[in-house]
Amino acid sequence: MYWNPFLHRYNFFSTLAFILLAQSAPEDALVTSVPGFDGTLPSKHYAGYVTVDKNHGKKLYYYYVLSERNPSQDPVVLWLNGGPGCSSFDGFVYEHGPFNFEKTGSLPKLHLNPYAWTKVSNMIYLDSPAGVGMSYSGNKSDYTTMDTKTALDSHKFLLEWFKLYPEYLSNSFFIAGESYAGVYVPMLSNEVVKGLDAGDKPTLNFKGYMVGNGVTDDVFDGNALVPFAHGMGLISDELYQEVTTECNGNYYNPANDNCESKLQKVDQDLDGINIYDILEPCYHGDSSSKIRLGTSESNLPESFRRLGETERPLPVRTRMFGRAWPFRAPVKAGYVPSWPELLNSAENVPCTDDEVATVWLNNEAVRKAIHADPISMAGDWELCTDKIRYYHDAGSMIPYHKNLTARGYRALIFSGDHDMCVPFTGSEAWTRSLGYKVIDEWRHWLVDGQVSGFIQGYDNNLTFLTVKGSGHTVPEYKPKEGLALYSRWLEGKTI
Ligand SMILES: *[C@@H]1O[C@H](CO)[C@@H](O)[C@H](O)[C@H]1NC(C)=O
Ligand SMILES: *[C@@H]1O[C@H](CO)[C@@H](O)[C@H](O)[C@H]1NC(C)=O
Ligand SMILES: *[C@@H]1O[C@H](CO)[C@@H](O)[C@H](O)[C@H]1NC(C)=O
Repeated sequence: MYWNPFLHRYNFFSTLAFILLAQSAPEDALVTSVPGFDGTLPSKHYAGYVTVDKNHGKKLYYYYVLSERNPSQDPVVLWLNGGPGCSSFDGFVYEHGPFNFEKTGSLPKLHLNPYAWTKVSNMIYLDSPAGVGMSYSGNKSDYTTMDTKTALDSHKFLLEWFKLYPEYLSNSFFIAGESYAGVYVPMLSNEVVKGLDAGDKPTLNFKGYMVGNGVTDDVFDGNALVPFAHGMGLISDELYQEVTTECNGNYYNPANDNCESKLQKVDQDLDGINIYDILEPCYHGDSSSKIRLGTSESNLPESFRRLGETERPLPVRTRMFGRAWPFRAPVKAGYVPSWPELLNSAENVPCTDDEVATVWLNNEAVRKAIHADPISMAGDWELCTDKIRYYHDAGSMIPYHKNLTARGYRALIFSGDHDMCVPFTGSEAWTRSLGYKVIDEWRHWLVDGQVSGFIQGYDNNLTFLTVKGSGHTVPEYKPKEGLALYSRWLEGKTI
């Protein structure tokens, strides 16, 4: 290229302008009002799109909520829901977002969430890959995707995002998610670390990651259900002995018909149980959806009504789907059927209610306020979409966990211990299989003096933790305990 003084001068001034402008978050991304919420926001909210492929018009949507405590010091945490195909608004609306959404006849009413994770951290909710939630592409070929491509795009997103918000580059940065994000989180962490090795700019201050009830490895996850069902008293000793003998401990890939028929018997015994929380009722229709424990209509004596309850401002969704894996269908390599596909094909209809989120996020005034493109451009918002064709091409996550923890990145692997979708038995077994020295031997952890679960601390900053009595989505079932373990772990305190 030949020398062009004009071009150079131009570049100099545009670079200078960029540096000056880049001092702070983009003002046009500021969310000035949130429809349904009347009060004053306890911290600033930003939202918008980051283009990850200009030629294709591939744009990923984020919603960024600053910490209510000390945004300039508190960590930045990226949150990912799973599916694959599920929007991270699942986490925002139903789990640890700044608001609790109250169902009304029309637009939901928003209340402040006393257990929001933004009490102690800056949170980025990212819809990924393109085609999910508010994220989309101008070229539909992008909707055929896989683990490796998703991680590359999300990494690109992060680099571009931190260029827009450079004042948060020095904060500690963590990646978190649950369910199928058990694949997204270590894959993206690995991309981030590769980028750091390669000198990618800007330099992310990556410290570690956390995964809740995460899909990890087809063998460990696939073998987790039978011991869980036995330990929880859902199948008999006899059946447990028979299935163990016939399958020789290999439940994930039945080697013979006898094993298969015993596994079918296990399935029969478990039929009708809510797989996301074995203690919650399973809601099949209108009449059963009225079942609620601990309400005033209950026949239980007053003193019993709150037994087993935790403080949560609004009831857990009566039905839900899409945040993880269907029953007895552990992650296998290759094409992953979408949730809508499974719902249409299988006899098994997991519990689902995405009503408040769907009403809110498909309201054009809401979309405008939160800088999401209108339905005519980005499509309807769906909790989990069948727009994408997703392939699991990355295999087991165990090698990724090994590499990341060996390099000193902190890892928290937590499990709601009453989840039957990704049972804790699998996560406990694979974390142990890494062979790290136990440095904090199995013990309970407390919230308000009550045992809230158990913890096993390993060398290399790897922690396995259970949340007692929680279902699949810990911050939804146990918001107070969820915030406690989250904030203690982030701060590097003893949990
Ligand atoms: C979409 O992207 C694919 C792959 O890059 C390309 O082959 C195709 O021409 C693109 N389609 C359109 C309509 O741009
Ligand atoms: C883990 O690290 C080893 C050694 O650097 C490397 O060969 C391997 O590909 C890495 N595995 C993954 C999944 O990144
Ligand atoms: C554990 O994490 C801390 C804080 O990030 C770090 O200083 C330390 O080196 C890590 N320890 C190991 C054994 O990797």
